Amino acid sequence: MNRSDFGEDFCWGVSTAAYQIEGGITADGKGPSIWDVFTQKKNKIFGGHNGNIACDYYNKFTEDIYLIYQLKIPHYRFSIAWSRIFPEGVGRINYKGIDFYNKVINLCLELDIEPWITLYHWDLPEELQKKGGWTNRDVIQWFSNYVSCCVQHFGDRVSNWIVLNEPMVFTGAGYFLGVHAPGKKGLNNFLSAVHHAALCQSAGGNIIKSLQTSSNVGTSFSHSHVEPYRQEDEKDQKAAVRVDALLNRLFLEPVLGMGYPIDDLPILKRMEKHIKGNDMQDLHFKMDFTGLQVYTRELIQHDFWMPFVQARLIKASDRFVHHTIMNWEVHPNSIYEAIKKFNQYEGINKIIITENGAAFDDFFYGESIIDDLRKDYIKSHLKKLLKAKEEGFKVNGYFIWTLTDNFEWAEGYKPKFGLIHVDFNTQKRTIKDSGKWYRDFLSSAGL
Ligand code: GAL
Repeated sequence: MNRSDFGEDFCWGVSTAAYQIEGGITADGKGPSIWDVFTQKKNKIFGGHNGNIACDYYNKFTEDIYLIYQLKIPHYRFSIAWSRIFPEGVGRINYKGIDFYNKVINLCLELDIEPWITLYHWDLPEELQKKGGWTNRDVIQWFSNYVSCCVQHFGDRVSNWIVLNEPMVFTGAGYFLGVHAPGKKGLNNFLSAVHHAALCQSAGGNIIKSLQTSSNVGTSFSHSHVEPYRQEDEKDQKAAVRVDALLNRLFLEPVLGMGYPIDDLPILKRMEKHIKGNDMQDLHFKMDFTGLQVYTRELIQHDFWMPFVQARLIKASDRFVHHTIMNWEVHPNSIYEAIKKFNQYEGINKIIITENGAAFDDFFYGESIIDDLRKDYIKSHLKKLLKAKEEGFKVNGYFIWTLTDNFEWAEGYKPKFGLIHVDFNTQKRTIKDSGKWYRDFLSSAGL
């Protein structure tokens, strides 16, 4: 397997997200986000960790972007912290926040690294959460205003935009399970957050297109390949269909103009009370590309007692299969299945894997950091991606999650996904073997 096997126009990249790396949470006028507040609550985050300093990228972005350059990675996806630009979420613009991202973008361009901006990677301004956050329909207005501002200030140099990162995860974990910021629970919170986020997906896309006709606009969907736990069991098969509708189709199908997957997940009928006027048409947006984020597969068992879905996931560790520190099964074929499935949708023209990667422990050997498991994970997923491509399925890019070890949400700093190790006491960066491998692969040395 060589880089050239994937074709000349295939985008190779690496992804990061603001809250997970930046730190500087009050620097230069930044307002608080829901993650700044959530991480202060007791027993929410592993070890009581938070992103107050994280990788100190706010001060060290030059070093990190030079590392991307050194690794010869041509595309860099990062997110904008909304509350750096609008400390209160709306109204007053903080120009120092704009300056920061201008410096990031300009350095990328200077080094011939193509920037991809994620507009929302989960860090809603806290002032907006005080008004209900994603459960308040006004979020469409707030978000539209923020998107316009970003396009106006950065659109002269950036043309690749990801509107939302994994809306299913931030609404599910943040507004249903309460395990991510802002820690809300319950079906009503969840369904209203889902509908408003789905409307923002299309509203954001339309705004970018109206301000920048040459833009390349998409949004990123989490996708876990879902299978019944007992392949032959009809109840497990039906449970798997419901979970697939919830995890993988809930945000994708409305943006394609197909509405919500109510037939396969009847609980979604309760969304009706949040749907107004032309909403069902307004959910539709023609994406230039579809971002697909794949990490694992889930096996699903029917469970009568589980509210709303009557289904549960069987953890990888309970199945005794090879898994990462996140307890996610290592299952490379999932990327192939996801690409194949997305290819079956008529409205999808271009697929970019905007995240794929793995958390494993690293081993120090002299000056080297050995992380064979991560390297093998990436290689095995790339092989399956290539198989999909060779069979004629559309797939045009691959971004590794992630550049440096960082703050992994509720899991704190424990799981390490980076191609680059960070010593969080000294902020020293060391390229791991996986990073060196990616560099060599991108230099076409092959495997
Ligand atoms: C994704 C998320 C990233 C990162 C990754 C690994 O869901 O977009 O921010 O945390 O998972 O868990």
